[in-house]
Amino acid sequence: MADVSCNIKNLELDFSFEILSLFFQVFNYMAQAVSGFSKKSKEEKIQWLADTYLANDKNAISVLSQYWNSNEKLQKLHDDFIENTITNYYLPFGIAPNFLINNELLTIPMVIEESSVVAAASNAAKFWLEKGGFKAEVISTIKNGQVHINYFGKSELISNFFSEIKPQLLQSISSIEENMKKRGGGLLDISLINSSEKLNGYYQLHCTFETKDAMGANFINTCLEEIAKTFERLAKNHQPFKKASSFPEIALSILSNYVPECLVRAKVECSVSQLSTSEIDGQIFAEKFVRAVDIAKTEPRRAVTHNKGIMNGIDAVILATGNDFRAVEAGVHAYAAKKGHYSSLTDAKIEHGIFSFSIEIPLALGTVGGLTTLHPLVKFALSILQKPSAEQLMKIVAVAGLAQNFAAIRSLVTTGIQKGHMKMHLMNILNQMEATTSEKEKTVLHFNKNTITHSAVVDFINKLR
Ligand code: MEV
Repeated sequence: MADVSCNIKNLELDFSFEILSLFFQVFNYMAQAVSGFSKKSKEEKIQWLADTYLANDKNAISVLSQYWNSNEKLQKLHDDFIENTITNYYLPFGIAPNFLINNELLTIPMVIEESSVVAAASNAAKFWLEKGGFKAEVISTIKNGQVHINYFGKSELISNFFSEIKPQLLQSISSIEENMKKRGGGLLDISLINSSEKLNGYYQLHCTFETKDAMGANFINTCLEEIAKTFERLAKNHQPFKKASSFPEIALSILSNYVPECLVRAKVECSVSQLSTSEIDGQIFAEKFVRAVDIAKTEPRRAVTHNKGIMNGIDAVILATGNDFRAVEAGVHAYAAKKGHYSSLTDAKIEHGIFSFSIEIPLALGTVGGLTTLHPLVKFALSILQKPSAEQLMKIVAVAGLAQNFAAIRSLVTTGIQKGHMKMHLMNILNQMEATTSEKEKTVLHFNKNTITHSAVVDFINKLR
């Protein structure tokens, strides 16, 4: 008994000691935390960073400052995109020419760091140019958002209430949607969805929108917040809710980045015999290709990598054109899992001697507003694309994804991916080693016939030197 009470006493002591040390730790962190940081100048922020984390390394500071733009106005523009900007982060801006899309020859701008992506896009574009190019169509352009509601009363009460006040909800955003309506867009409809079987007391106002050439995130969110306010205000004065002493409450209001009703399809097709090259017979190639896509349709582990390759092309164009790649990524991957398991975004088949390869993806894009009007390189990218509408951009982006997937599967089922990848990566290794032009030429020549690995390249250069 004495032992037990002694143990309890020790435990209590341990516990109090832990709480005390936690308190001192938090106190210590609070004392170290920086306050009013966002109000400091850029130079002060950098100095703080260097003092706090980089042992005041002067070299670190010069790494940052060499990326500042000498054009002050341009630098200020970039500084103001986000908070606490300390420098600019460059990514290569490349172009992939020869994309024939619905009989229009386009050059696609791509912003990406992965060495093989632009080369792969260009190769696929050239390959399909000779076979009639890509065909793309927009299936639908409806975006959506939800006002999520908590309501634990009788469902008839909320559904009657909704039917009664729906005209007022639609009316409540009339001034917000005035400009959008002039451009042919606006709020399309609102419906009440009872999701209380999935989550106790959970309802939503599902709102659909047409936003034309704008991505529409700000417009949709402003509409949703106004609809939510009106809903809650009217609910407070609704007699049946008062009588039951149970009112619906707004949980949150936000657009959805899952846009399965904002859909685009792109496709290529040709006769199987047209796929023949000096290396492989067309029929064999087509069968291997279709099999690779079937594997990605079946096995999620492969599907994720297969779709990642598609996103190499998609994200690069999304970034170049100033769109939100996180929104697109989230929505596209949700779409890839729409049947209940994660699957390929592309489809391939051979029918009556014709090979066809297609993609269907949800894309909510904008070609007006946001970064598209602010960032000079985004404006430039859109000019290269002949100032597309949002629908045209949807088609171009879908084609970039399809082309990228074609290039990846073609390599995977023939030479393997590493040959092309490492050829591109060779330049990165040479640049890391600060190779001279003559060293680069000799190395490229040598590795035309030899397998490229990081250590083989390092050895070769060291021997040269
Ligand atoms: C690499 O970035 C993309 C690939 O892995 C795509 C694929 O496997 O299909 C090559």
